[in-house]
Amino acid sequence: MTRTPAPKRAVRAAFDKAAGHYDAVASVQRTACDHLLALVSSQDFSPDRILDAGCGTGYALAGLKRSFPAADLLALDFAPAMLRQHAPGLARPLCADLEHLPIAGASLDALWSSYALQWCNPQRALPELARSLRPSGQLWLATLGPGTLGELREAFLHVDNNEHVLNFQPPEAIIKAAESAGLRVLNSERRTLHAWAPDLRNLLSDIKTLGAHQTGAAHRAPLGKSAWLRLVAAYEAYRGPNGLPASYDTFWLIAEKI
Ligand SMILES: C[S@@+](CC[C@H](N)C(=O)[O-])C[C@H]1O[C@@H](n2cnc3c(N)ncnc32)[C@H](O)[C@@H]1O
Repeated sequence: MTRTPAPKRAVRAAFDKAAGHYDAVASVQRTACDHLLALVSSQDFSPDRILDAGCGTGYALAGLKRSFPAADLLALDFAPAMLRQHAPGLARPLCADLEHLPIAGASLDALWSSYALQWCNPQRALPELARSLRPSGQLWLATLGPGTLGELREAFLHVDNNEHVLNFQPPEAIIKAAESAGLRVLNSERRTLHAWAPDLRNLLSDIKTLGAHQTGAAHRAPLGKSAWLRLVAAYEAYRGPNGLPASYDTFWLIAEKI
């Protein structure tokens, strides 16, 4: 099966559409942000200027403000509807692509990005993120690894051979891209977080609300009834006491610009 990169416009449109409902189903995303904030705040590092790249509805901004009250916060996303969800006054909004930051070189002390890099090409995005950091500035990253939505990927094998789930790059590839971009890894962690849903319809709806259903094959015809029933039966094998799980293979990385 070949990797089909998610077309950027479709990804942006999906997040724009999802913005108003995103927070209601984003519990895993919040856990990932909270853990990244704990890792970041445990260091002796006081940035003056922080950019949240792929900030979404801006959940991380309040925590960043609490941890770094004197810092100037910038919040960047390419989906305008996401930026419209922000609490006013917390951060300066920037509507732009994180692979082409409208930011001068070496102008940031810290760059936060949670659950956004997986929608980009890390080999293009990481040099751009690194470019904007001053020497000894830090990248604070949470992103998704190949185990993400593994249950769904497996269950679809009972239906057809098409790609239904985005291919997420492994942490080793992210680290290699970060190091090639001139960053030194200070800390990294990997853990699988789970979201739960009562049935497959709800689980898929939550994934769609999170904007996470873009695979590059988004316009394929809907499943027929027998294919849907095969998918449901295959996914039921994963049912646990909390319902059906969706795995988020989460990779946190703290790195420093050399
Ligand atoms: C899964 S959401 C995460 C939002 C937020 N960081 C959080 O943790 O809740 C991913 C966000 O990244 C944004 N995004 C994805 N690719 C992007 C790109 N190339 N440039 C800017 N924003 C991007 C999406 O619009 C979306 O708001």
